[in-house]
Amino acid sequence: MSFALTHFIGKLPEVIGILDSGVGGLSVMREIRAQLPEQPLTYIGDTAWCPYGNKDFSEIRDRTFILTDSLIEAGAEVIVVACNSATIVAIEALRSQYPIPFVGMEPGVKPAASLTKTGTIGVLATEASLAGEKFHRLVATHARDLRVITQPCPKFVELVERGILTGAEVEEAIDEYTSAILKADADVFILGCSHYPFLRPTLEASLPDHIQFIDTGSAIARRVKQQLLSSPTHNKVKVLTTGNPEQFSQLCEILIPEFQIKCQALKLP
Ligand code: DGL
Repeated sequence: MSFALTHFIGKLPEVIGILDSGVGGLSVMREIRAQLPEQPLTYIGDTAWCPYGNKDFSEIRDRTFILTDSLIEAGAEVIVVACNSATIVAIEALRSQYPIPFVGMEPGVKPAASLTKTGTIGVLATEASLAGEKFHRLVATHARDLRVITQPCPKFVELVERGILTGAEVEEAIDEYTSAILKADADVFILGCSHYPFLRPTLEASLPDHIQFIDTGSAIARRVKQQLLSSPTHNKVKVLTTGNPEQFSQLCEILIPEFQIKCQALKLP
C-alpha cells in the first residue's frame, strides 16, 4: 500500500472506481457517497458475467482484472473491489500488479466475533468466498474459538439482480438459508456479499429480534476516505454495466433511487 501511495505524491487520486459482478456493489457505493458526497465515482457492474459466486477462481480473477483495466482507463485512481468474492480471490494479485490503491471487502468475521454472546456466528456469503483461502485465514485469526456456520446464498444474488427485495420468494430463501444456523443458536449473521445488504430490511423483519447483522459497507467507505488526498473538481457518478443498461437503470431506481442513475453500456471482452 505504501508503494501505491508514493505513486500519488504530486498527483492526487480523485476518481473512485468501484466494481462488482452486478448491482451488489451499489450497496457499497451508497455508503461511499454518504461519507464522500463530493467525490466523483465510476461504477462497473459486470452483469454479463453475474454471478461470480459459482465461478471458478481463475475466471473471477480474469474478470476482476478486465474491470480494473476498464476503470483505470475511465480515470479511476483508487479502486474499491465492492465484491467479497473478487476480493477474496483476486485482491492480492491486483495489489501486486497495479500501482494504485485497492480497497477490498471481506466478510466481517472480526466484528461478528466481538459481538456474539452465544459463541456461534453465521456467515452468509458466496460459494467462492467461503471456499477462499483468505476467508479461512480470517476465521482462523478472529474466530478460532467460535462456532462458525457458513451458508452460500445464491438465490439472494439472483433476487437482488431482479430487483426483488421483499415478498414470498425472498422469505422462502431466507428461511432456507438461515433456519439451520438459527437452530445452532447463532446470534450474529454476517452479510458477506455486497448484494445482501439490500435484503437486510427483510432479513431483520424475518429473523428474531436478538439477531445482529454485520455488513462492512460503511467500514469500506471509511477506508476509502483514508486513501483520498484530493479536493475533487466535480462529483459526478457514472454507472456502467456489461449487461443491459436500461435494466440496470431500473434496478438502480429500486436499489438506490436517491442517485437517479442513467446507466451506460460497457463493452468488454
Ligand atoms: N456481490 C458479490 C460478492 O460480494 C458477488 C455475488 C455474485 O456475483 O455471486 O461476493
